[in-house]
Amino acid sequence: MILEQTLRGEIVRFGTMLYQKGLAHGSAGNLSVRLEDGSILVTPTNSSLGFLEPQRISKVSREGELLSGDPPSKEAFFHLAVYEQRPEARAVVHLHSTHSVAMSCLCHDDPADVLPPLTAYAVMRVGKLPLLPYFRPGDRKLAACVRSAAQDHRAMLLANHGPIVSGSSLAEAVFAYEELEEVAKLFFLTDGRKTSPLSAAAIAELNAVFGN
Ligand code: 13P
Repeated sequence: MILEQTLRGEIVRFGTMLYQKGLAHGSAGNLSVRLEDGSILVTPTNSSLGFLEPQRISKVSREGELLSGDPPSKEAFFHLAVYEQRPEARAVVHLHSTHSVAMSCLCHDDPADVLPPLTAYAVMRVGKLPLLPYFRPGDRKLAACVRSAAQDHRAMLLANHGPIVSGSSLAEAVFAYEELEEVAKLFFLTDGRKTSPLSAAAIAELNAVFGN
């Protein structure tokens, strides 16, 4: 069992790293981890991920009640919706990073999967990326959409907003998020050129070998 204090430190460390890399800006984005008893540690609302303080991080029950710390992210409810659907998930990352948000603002032919399988790591770390409809940040109507998409997806993209990515640890969720952002960047770099995405057989092989 990982101590709560250690997890608070991890949230601060990864928040700082994401902010310094420019994947989080201003006070946008939120991070959470799930504790053994089902409660979560989540970044406080309107906090900057670059300047978090371990003791001020919000602790919220699985029912959404604030147990300690500053007032939680207004999106703590969709973090809880992901945990509800994915028993193996121990961390959730939501950011407004540029290339992923740009992807979320495009019209997509197939909203069930909006990330082209350009690289093996896109398939291995992100998998299928569904686009969920737009709701204003904090709108509880998002919970139902997130809940149903989370069942089969570790990552999803909120329209005109940004991705939600889960993992079995904060490191895993952050690394998958970074992979998503990189593939979104590749998508825009190759835009207008004839690309050769991975074949269905190559994707099936990756899923068989790496268990996505
Ligand atoms: P919070 O500051 O409430 O976490 O909201 C930030 C955000 O990313 C909204 O989408």
